[in-house]
Amino acid sequence: MLSKSTYLNRRLTLKTKLGGGLLLFLGNEESGMNYRDNVYSFRQDSTFLYYFGIDQASLTAVIDLDNDQEILFGDELTIDDIVWTGPKEAISEKAAKVGVTEVKPASALGSLLKDALSKGQTVHFLPPYRGEHYLKLQEWLHINPAEATQKASVSFIKAVVSMRSYKTEEEVAEIEKAVDTSVDMHLSFMRETRAGMTEKEIAGKLQSIAIGQGGDISYPIILTVNGEILHTHARDLAIRDGQMALCDAGAETAMHYCGDLTRTIPVGNAFTTIQKEMYQIVLDAQEAAIAACKPGILFKDVHKLASTKLVEGMKQMGVVKGDVAEAIEHDVHTLFFQCGLGHMMGLDVHDMENLGEQYVGYTDDLIKGTAFGWKSLRLGRALEPGFVLTVEPGLYLIPTLIDRWKAENKLAQFINYEKLELFRDFTGIRIEDNLLITETGNRLLGKELVKSVADVEGLRG
Ligand code: GLY
Ligand code: MN
Repeated sequence: MLSKSTYLNRRLTLKTKLGGGLLLFLGNEESGMNYRDNVYSFRQDSTFLYYFGIDQASLTAVIDLDNDQEILFGDELTIDDIVWTGPKEAISEKAAKVGVTEVKPASALGSLLKDALSKGQTVHFLPPYRGEHYLKLQEWLHINPAEATQKASVSFIKAVVSMRSYKTEEEVAEIEKAVDTSVDMHLSFMRETRAGMTEKEIAGKLQSIAIGQGGDISYPIILTVNGEILHTHARDLAIRDGQMALCDAGAETAMHYCGDLTRTIPVGNAFTTIQKEMYQIVLDAQEAAIAACKPGILFKDVHKLASTKLVEGMKQMGVVKGDVAEAIEHDVHTLFFQCGLGHMMGLDVHDMENLGEQYVGYTDDLIKGTAFGWKSLRLGRALEPGFVLTVEPGLYLIPTLIDRWKAENKLAQFINYEKLELFRDFTGIRIEDNLLITETGNRLLGKELVKSVADVEGLRG
């Protein structure tokens, strides 16, 4: 938990951004894995954490802007609970630590909301993303679950995004802790991965590092010799010399600030010549993109710059032909780079993604694209000091996609399909780091994690 004044100030600022009505903050519930009491590891809602800081299930908060009230709803443990959980700090004590003085039982919320609606007060809520959110909105506000996302309060969403997008020093310090743990996970991956191990065996070790340092993983670990499958998770599959292993893994701290790094390594001691050349293309694209990140530049343009570097590289490999700028205008890069260059990062690894990518990564004047490739770019807007984001270009040779484009002879004026066949089973490479946008440029967050070909191979010896 951060200091009481942090939470008081955050709520004060939020209140000045919204005219009236009630703001409803849905905390998360425990979630049963296979029966109610055998639960997944609890994860509090990030907006709830941002304004109320209490990392405990079954809480809801209301800010009544019309009557200047802040109320936390939740039930204290009964003796039946304490038999199983041991005694815990009372909700009222936790509330006091974040500057909330009014605490009521969970059962009081329904009538408060009913009263508010009958008085004509607007109840603002954020887009739901868990089953329990939909059910609560239905019970308390009579919102049809099918319409709940679209009925979420745009002014509330925009107010939250306008605050959570700018990380304060204390948040950056926490994010750096998460990145440091993520670096430790990657060092273990880069040093200890050996042919014959399974993807799961390696991923399990990395997760234990995140847990051992007091937090957990910030998303399910992607650890694979099939890096071209963007979100594949570790399998019970032994890895082999000659392959590359891609690890996209990050930790979150006990306070739930996240890190998100990716490295790609040879399973053996060294990359093959082709792997090395392709790796260098991705690294050049990443370094050019990082160098371009500064206040004012559209991240959409940084994505385009990285895409240009990737296509230039693929032209050198003989796979792309013709004018690179023209090829990019025709979206040739999406054959190799189907996803976005990066995303905001903070209390969520894809920060605020539940609030809507259009509101987080774009603006009223900059609408998110819908074309293949561009629709996966979660961040397009102009960068500003205080933003924390990832920069993660990659080259992904997806056999099914190659076959599809080839069958259509798609953009054949720019693609040498015969040469491309040689790369059909190449798999994929991604390199990802986390940055803070500063007044003058950017700063890489966390301990340095090597990424040059020589340094990566140096760790493999
Ligand atoms: N680290 C997974 C992702 O950015 O999608
Ligand atoms: Mn990422």
